[in-house]
Amino acid sequence: MILQALDINKSFTNGVSKLRVLTNLTLTVGGGEIVTIMGQSGAGKSTLLNILGTLDSPDSGLLKINGHNVEKLNEKELCALRNKELGFVFQFHHLLPEFTALENILMPNWISGKNPILPRAHDLLTKVGLMERKDHYPSQLSGGERSRVAVLRAMINQPSLILADEPTGNLDVKNARKLIDLFVEINKDFGQSIVLTTHNPDVAGIGDRKLTLDDGQLTTCE
Ligand SMILES: Nc1ncnc2c1ncn2[C@@H]1O[C@H](COP(=O)(O)OP(=O)(O)OP(=O)(O)O)[C@@H](O)[C@H]1O
Ligand SMILES: [Mg+2]
Repeated sequence: MILQALDINKSFTNGVSKLRVLTNLTLTVGGGEIVTIMGQSGAGKSTLLNILGTLDSPDSGLLKINGHNVEKLNEKELCALRNKELGFVFQFHHLLPEFTALENILMPNWISGKNPILPRAHDLLTKVGLMERKDHYPSQLSGGERSRVAVLRAMINQPSLILADEPTGNLDVKNARKLIDLFVEINKDFGQSIVLTTHNPDVAGIGDRKLTLDDGQLTTCE
């Protein structure tokens, strides 16, 4: 079991009213599993992914990543866990503009202080057809190219779990398909678990398990 989230609750208050976003939500993800999550805008998908990725904390509930109880970790241990076990892909990719595609991909590797893995970065760039673009800056890449770079960055350290929040949200159909194929390939080749949110039923179709977030809880959709 790579991820266990039990009885997760999360509300937001703006000083006046309280908005309950996640209500006793439970999710477990096994090794090598792809879980897709659909749900209306505002349902809480990004909130959930941020919590699963330890970028935000729940009000209550238990979160275990690869057996580690996240609540029990100090900031340093948490950073190490994030860097080792998790890869993030955001809707608007958040590539660092002053670094090239290759440098963006290698960033988690540099941060981890591990041996540089340039050949692996080159292999991955070749695999997604971006080797000729490796020295381009994000502003010099198309939307689809940026998204592929963001996926490679998320997987460079071979994390156990990739969290992808609407990774195809700003892509046309063809580029969305390419990106989704890349996720499936990563999953097949490296056995990484993937939790992915999307508004697109075709994208959700790649899930071993397809869930819907509604009313603060996840249900199986079929
Ligand atoms: N920091 C915050 N403070 C207050 N309210 C917030 C905060 N973050 C999110 N919300 C609210 O929580 C709800 C869930 O937001 P979230 O971004 O998780 O939805 P979502 O399912 O990802 O939507 P979308 O499909 O549009 O991306 C929304 O109503 C949003 O306004
Ligand atoms: Mg969102």
